[in-house]
Amino acid sequence: MDFSVRKELIKNRFENQFSNTPEIIVQAPGRVDLMGSHTDYNLGYVLTQAIDRNTWIAARPRQDKIVRIASLNVEGTSEFHLDDIQHDTVNPWTNYVRGVADILQKEGYELTGFDGLIHSTIPFGSGLSSSAALEVASAILFEALADWEIDPVQIAVLCQRAENGFVGMNCGILDQYSSAMGVANSVVLLDCRSITHEIKPIADGVQVMICDTKAERALTGSEYSERRAQCEEGVRILSQFYPEIRSLRDATLGQLAAHKADIPPVVFKRCQFIIEENQRVLDMAAALADGRHEDAGQLALRSFDGARDLYEIVSSEMIAMKDAITGAPGVFGARGAGAGFGGCLVAFVREGEIDTFSSEVLKKYTDFTGIDADVYPVIAASGAGLVLSRSHN
Ligand code: GLA
Repeated sequence: MDFSVRKELIKNRFENQFSNTPEIIVQAPGRVDLMGSHTDYNLGYVLTQAIDRNTWIAARPRQDKIVRIASLNVEGTSEFHLDDIQHDTVNPWTNYVRGVADILQKEGYELTGFDGLIHSTIPFGSGLSSSAALEVASAILFEALADWEIDPVQIAVLCQRAENGFVGMNCGILDQYSSAMGVANSVVLLDCRSITHEIKPIADGVQVMICDTKAERALTGSEYSERRAQCEEGVRILSQFYPEIRSLRDATLGQLAAHKADIPPVVFKRCQFIIEENQRVLDMAAALADGRHEDAGQLALRSFDGARDLYEIVSSEMIAMKDAITGAPGVFGARGAGAGFGGCLVAFVREGEIDTFSSEVLKKYTDFTGIDADVYPVIAASGAGLVLSRSHN
């Protein structure tokens, strides 16, 4: 949607909703991981970028410590007092805002209430981090309404804690970090142990494409926690033999293989995937930076295979999408994005062949599954910030 059209839309709808004008608009982007599935909570690396799909909140401060929120994407409004933050079971999407308010206050930040209207262009539940974008946008908004400032890395850390503690999803730092710290036209090589990143160039001549299976993600919560627990079990066993191993980031394939007999087979597979995937992140960053497109494509395909066979997070629709992508014009490779269990694949496609790629993938995927997919390019965007500041209203 055109920027000024969107701004007018959200302002007008805000006026209808709250009978007043918004004073401020903030935004936080979604993300796509180019390599590194489930490596974040294993304190490894992820190659990630913020995308040009984001969540806006238009807001007007209030003096009574009440937060009232509505959304252009989801039905229902929700209201809470900053001195008494409870979970909302009727409008659970507002828990992302509530959780961020809660953690900021627990950290000693003084918050101002507001009327807020949310508008998102990130598809929900497709693995592009719409939840993290709402969290990060909320934190940016509380900051903009206050007289304190907060480091964007700290915003990412606190938003992750809000999701872990308040929402109850035991995610790593990837989504919130990408949304807070994205760099326009660049790829971010995130180190999840030091919570720092290196900026890498975007590959010349390669377009990042999102191929959304449009299949509902199932079991993401429980299966996700189970994977995490299996990785922790692997670390527990390996660290008995190698005390320096504190997370799978520290382990090598050689160490893992040497203790195959000590590790339950499922745990072994999970650990193998993470150790291999972590190395693939570094290899992918190098391949993209050097313009080795074929190598990058092969790495993506190996990631997909490992996610399917070892980590077992690939749904049947994801396999159908991968089959639709294989052999399509201009494609170098593709892999699952986000947590898996449905959602999107990310494909690397030669610039100039986007249209033929998209139409072939769309057609084949519908032939295979009967589902209409969504296939579109994304651009690396900057992290969260102000769209409209109070002084420029
Ligand atoms: C979800 C989580 C992230 C990360 C990915 C998988 O998006 O929120 O922390 O674990 O899955 O890489």
